[in-house]
Amino acid sequence: MKLIVQGGTPLCGRVRVSGAKNSSLALIAASAISGEEVYLDNVPKIADVKTQMEIVRALGGQVSWEGSNTLRLKWHGSLNTDIPYSMAKKIRASNLFLGAMAAKKGTIKIPLPGGCNIGSRPMDLHLKGLGMLGYDVSLEHGYIEARPGKLKGCSIYLDFPSVGATENIMMAAAGTPGTTVIENAAKEPEIVDLANFLNAMGGRVRGAGTDLIIIDGVSEFKGTRFSVIPDRVEAGTYMIAAGVTGGEVTVENVIVKHLQPVIAKLQDVGLTVDANEDQITVKRTGDIVATDIKTLPYPGFPTDLQSPMMVLLALAEGTSLIVENVFENRFQAADELKRMGAKIQVKSHTAVIEGVQGLSGAQVKASDLRAGASLLLAGLAAQGETEISCAELLTRGYERVVGKFSSLGAEIKCLSEEDDGLELRTSLTASEKEDPQASRASS
Ligand code: EPZ
Repeated sequence: MKLIVQGGTPLCGRVRVSGAKNSSLALIAASAISGEEVYLDNVPKIADVKTQMEIVRALGGQVSWEGSNTLRLKWHGSLNTDIPYSMAKKIRASNLFLGAMAAKKGTIKIPLPGGCNIGSRPMDLHLKGLGMLGYDVSLEHGYIEARPGKLKGCSIYLDFPSVGATENIMMAAAGTPGTTVIENAAKEPEIVDLANFLNAMGGRVRGAGTDLIIIDGVSEFKGTRFSVIPDRVEAGTYMIAAGVTGGEVTVENVIVKHLQPVIAKLQDVGLTVDANEDQITVKRTGDIVATDIKTLPYPGFPTDLQSPMMVLLALAEGTSLIVENVFENRFQAADELKRMGAKIQVKSHTAVIEGVQGLSGAQVKASDLRAGASLLLAGLAAQGETEISCAELLTRGYERVVGKFSSLGAEIKCLSEEDDGLELRTSLTASEKEDPQASRASS
């Protein structure tokens, strides 16, 4: 899929933020722990959710859309233990079925996960946690296999506050007899959402949101209805877009607290940010001021907004520094932004960005989800036309991305590669809204 972006129009207006991708993917997996019906509200219709749904069905669970953004899930009877490699290689979150199936004290065999190529993304902390809970864990031929041994709660220290490892251990411990303590746990809002969801199903999780999480294993889990938190990364992307294009954008349906690190940085670079209740308005009133950014686990600046911020800093007065402390290969947007006139020098975990007057449209290629988002922002700011190939990566994490940006005044056309330019659509069709990947299937 290609996006054709005409740059130079300041974005203005209001956009409603969808449910969080990274919470939805964890909760879909966690629903397997209950044998009763689970309803998840505020789930975004994005490609990664579609893939996670395919995995649910491959494991023997039932899942369907009920209304616009509600999923109905039902897991009953014996489940398969294998996740097909073709599905697992698409998204990192396939690995979250490890903890969910462990909570059912079943054997689980999953292919090493795929996902954005932003680093090696090992699974050592996940496997350490499951092993300490009493699982016999093996990693052979590209597959992780965990077979229940003598399962018992324990104290697990994470060398790094890994989001996925914290989620997998929390889920597995929720169904393991005894008390488990996770030390140096991840504190992201998505961790708190998962803990609240486990508790809504009858789990006993305390301390989520701090670096010490205590889980008392229980044997029975019931069905529930639960609403996913708003997506702080989607919200931040639109907030940065206001600065990049020199406009004024209000994001609605947000939890302001989750965006504090982003708000602080946008104010540092000279944008006006007004936050109240569940909405935030970002306005550019003058020059962008250079600043330095270090990505850190929450509540530090989120690594998922590092690439979009790079575009803003590329247009700043002065030289900025970005240090990427979470992933080892997350500056891939830099080369494509340089094709648009940005001045960026990358050395290991550091990017030095010398601000320029403006960017110019070019043909660029998205390498991963958030790098793709940064290229869209750059295209909106650039003079002239930008063609973004591999743009289907954006549908992995941004619901109705063309429609939402178009509603703010962006001039974007969606061109599916196979159409040879014959078919230009300004937003996803009704069927694609139902099924984000239909656009790829139909093209
Ligand atoms: C989650 O990935 C998110 N994905 C990522 O969002 C996000 O960037 C990341 O957390 C950090 O916030 C989902 O929730 C589906 P980690 P995850 O385990 O769980 C190292 C997006 O764009 N590590 O916290 O994979 C790892 O290599 C995506 O929405 C180990 O060393 O992140 C990395 O350097 C991208 N051993 C660091 O920790 C392990 O066992 C952070 O990884 C696990 C991780």
